[in-house]
Amino acid sequence: MSIFDIEHTVENYFVKNNPKYLKMVLGTDDVMPLWIADMDFKVASPITEALRNIVERGIYAYEDISPQVKEAMANWNLKRHGLQMNPNAFIQVNGVLTAIAVILRALTKESDGIMIQTPVYHQFYNAIKTANRTVIENPLKIENGHYAFDFEHMEQQLKSGNTKMILLCNPHNPVGRVWCHEELQKLVDLANQYNVIIVSDEVHSEIVFSKTKFNSILSLENIENHIAVLGSPAKTFGMQSIANGYIYAENKAQFEVINSLVTSMYLHQGGALSAYAILAAYTSGHAWVDELVLYLEETVNWIEDFLKTELPQVKMIRPEGTYQVWLDFSALNLNKTQLKALVFNKAKVGLALGSTFGADYELFMRMNIASPLAKIQQAFQRIKAAIDSL
Ligand SMILES: Cc1ncc(COP(=O)(O)O)c(C=O)c1O
Repeated sequence: MSIFDIEHTVENYFVKNNPKYLKMVLGTDDVMPLWIADMDFKVASPITEALRNIVERGIYAYEDISPQVKEAMANWNLKRHGLQMNPNAFIQVNGVLTAIAVILRALTKESDGIMIQTPVYHQFYNAIKTANRTVIENPLKIENGHYAFDFEHMEQQLKSGNTKMILLCNPHNPVGRVWCHEELQKLVDLANQYNVIIVSDEVHSEIVFSKTKFNSILSLENIENHIAVLGSPAKTFGMQSIANGYIYAENKAQFEVINSLVTSMYLHQGGALSAYAILAAYTSGHAWVDELVLYLEETVNWIEDFLKTELPQVKMIRPEGTYQVWLDFSALNLNKTQLKALVFNKAKVGLALGSTFGADYELFMRMNIASPLAKIQQAFQRIKAAIDSL
């Protein structure tokens, strides 16, 4: 029995299970909720211990442990990904979305084009629009059974448009691609040729399955102008409501512009609870993450097998990373309303609608699999029963 096979009871205000959010997002609260991207698992015990120590100390005076946290971030990345990072090039902010919102404002101007590879995490659209920048969509294409960048379309757009930044998602939410070195080098070369900055959101970088290697944008050649928003421990450790995010910028000029915007708004002043939790995660969380990734990979294996043998009408391109699976229901020949009714009302499983990630994906849904396997199995059995009864 794994440490992740817990019985999950819901007695809190978690957004995932909150009837108000379920009604708002899915139209019904009578579902097994597997939509928003957080975990049903308890955090690694060193994190709980660190938080307990602070609570037992009973003093919450001004405190600055950010040098230790930045050191721990650099060490984590060295151990996990072989990246040599400078602790002084980290800028801490509330979360990854704050990081993106800040970078957009610091490094681009109003109405500048920001390119995203769609379908993609829906808040990318939102962050760009609310900063009064222009969304430039470069849809992913399917090549040899994989999602891939459409470099031809990308280059046309870079040539003709006003794109100033590419907001990259690596690993990619929702399709689960972990971009390989060659693909990223091509992207960097194009960005350099057209003088465009790449901002790489790598928040899912720790959830990468065994046959794939994660390549940070930092591991590439000629990246002086590019920024890695390396994310936060939130996704990795299931700390969505307590973790902070960070921006990593080695380019001095960019660092200065971003840092002065962050400090002018006092966005860097995180709380001690977050700081100690992050420190514990990055110093003592290695074994827990290793176990988590194995657990999730076994879940993906089970899903792949189940779809192949029991539910071939639902297609999935196997994810290389993230705890999301991207399910294609188009072979059912239903329209989007019928599909919603089937999954949400008949199967009573709450997934994220594909159209949230891209307009062309109405017949797709994303399932968050960071739950005990038994629950995921139950969800698929329910979907199968609903489809069988069509
Ligand atoms: C790619 C990506 N970036 C950012 C976030 C949100 O990060 P945060 O909660 O730290 O703002 C998510 C959440 O799902 C995500 O998938």
